[in-house]
Amino acid sequence: MWVLPRYGRAGVDCPPIAGNFGSDDRMTMARAVRSHEVVNIADLRRLAKRRLPRVVFDYIDGGADGEITLRENCRAFEDVIFRPRCAVATTGTDLRVSVLGTQLDLPFLLAPVGSSRLFYPRGESAAARAAGDAGTGYVLSTLSGSRVDEVRGASTGPVWYQLYLLGGREAAAAAVERARAAGCTALVVTIDTPVAGLRERDARNGTRELLSRQPFTMLPHVWQFLARPRWLAGFLADGGLMDFPNVVLPGGRAMPYADVGAALEQSVVSWSDLRWIRELWKGRTVIKGIHTAEDARRAVNEGADAIVVSNHGGRQLDGVSATIRALPEVIAAVGSRTEVLLDGGIRRGGDIVKALCLGARAVLVGRAYAYGLAAGGEAGVARAIAILRADVDRTLKLLGCASISELDSSYVEVPAAWGARVEPTAPRVGLP
Ligand SMILES: Cc1cc2nc3c(=O)[nH]c(=O)nc-3n(C[C@H](O)[C@H](O)[C@H](O)COP(=O)(O)O)c2cc1C
Repeated sequence: MWVLPRYGRAGVDCPPIAGNFGSDDRMTMARAVRSHEVVNIADLRRLAKRRLPRVVFDYIDGGADGEITLRENCRAFEDVIFRPRCAVATTGTDLRVSVLGTQLDLPFLLAPVGSSRLFYPRGESAAARAAGDAGTGYVLSTLSGSRVDEVRGASTGPVWYQLYLLGGREAAAAAVERARAAGCTALVVTIDTPVAGLRERDARNGTRELLSRQPFTMLPHVWQFLARPRWLAGFLADGGLMDFPNVVLPGGRAMPYADVGAALEQSVVSWSDLRWIRELWKGRTVIKGIHTAEDARRAVNEGADAIVVSNHGGRQLDGVSATIRALPEVIAAVGSRTEVLLDGGIRRGGDIVKALCLGARAVLVGRAYAYGLAAGGEAGVARAIAILRADVDRTLKLLGCASISELDSSYVEVPAAWGARVEPTAPRVGLP
């Protein structure tokens, strides 16, 4: 079922989606995401859950281990309290920000989300197009089912390429070269994934079994697809289980969709790789996956043009701090030396404004647009962006602030404990 002819291999043009893939379905989905009942990102999540097989929905929605960090990323925004200035008339608001020398119409970009093509046919291009139309940027994951040049060509906005060293240095160097040739304007190196986190929902849903390509092993889990025939029709028309066309292995074959965890373990990125990557790319480099002031300083010393305070949306090491809580420490350490972005837990425009008040130059949103993509393709991503944009605009007006550039920490209050850290203790070397 998963194993079908694939399109989008390295060097092969992507043919159109087979047949006249569900234009009725597409219109129905577009109507659903534009409905008056879709007011916030949670509503898009609900639609996504209704359309996707459980294994795919949980892949987006889930986090690592006990999902403590996943929950905390969202919850911690509740600890940040606004301090508005009332009786201030702000008729027009200016939501523009400058990131890495590029002006964006919105203070958020779309984060790299792997396997987006499972959520919706040609999902990466659909999301990139929606981002460009809204005047913002899209970050393409290495673990995507669409080629970087195809995705770059779909958007009128900036497209950045997120790099994993999958397939080894040679394959990564070739990917970097293709990203440059395609016109990507920044390289995002993710450093928090030396091994894939344990996503318990994926294990229970039989992800590994479904990827085994062994019919008898797959059989007990296939009902999830049969229970979502409309998703299945789109998936099959899009060529079935994709390869990763941006990871071209020695011999010229695109990396097949398989156990990504094992592949990541064989391609851990280290600080010494970063030096090599910067020399190779020569353009703007962003380091994603910063949790602490120490790593932030290291990244800046290694020449990062920007960093992303990120814990991978709670999908890697469970129990790490919510990103909004880690932000003040990172800003205090490197805020004057580099551009600091943040992602994790953003579900409302108010969350975005809080992060900007605490010093982030802009944020990335992951699940917020992935739910939209899964609920209604490009229309769903556009709806997610419109919801967040309207939230940010309204929040600024309610704060009595006319533009993003005027936001600062005086508009918020954070718990006193956020600045405090336990003093380092002596190393336990030699203890039994
Ligand atoms: C389904 C899914 C796949 C992801 N794939 C990648 C990836 O391939 N590379 C990467 O750097 N981050 C990846 N991320 C992490 C996001 O870039 C981002 O850090 C995270 O989604 C932010 O948290 P949020 O979803 O709460 O907004 C992924 C996140 C999700 C939800």
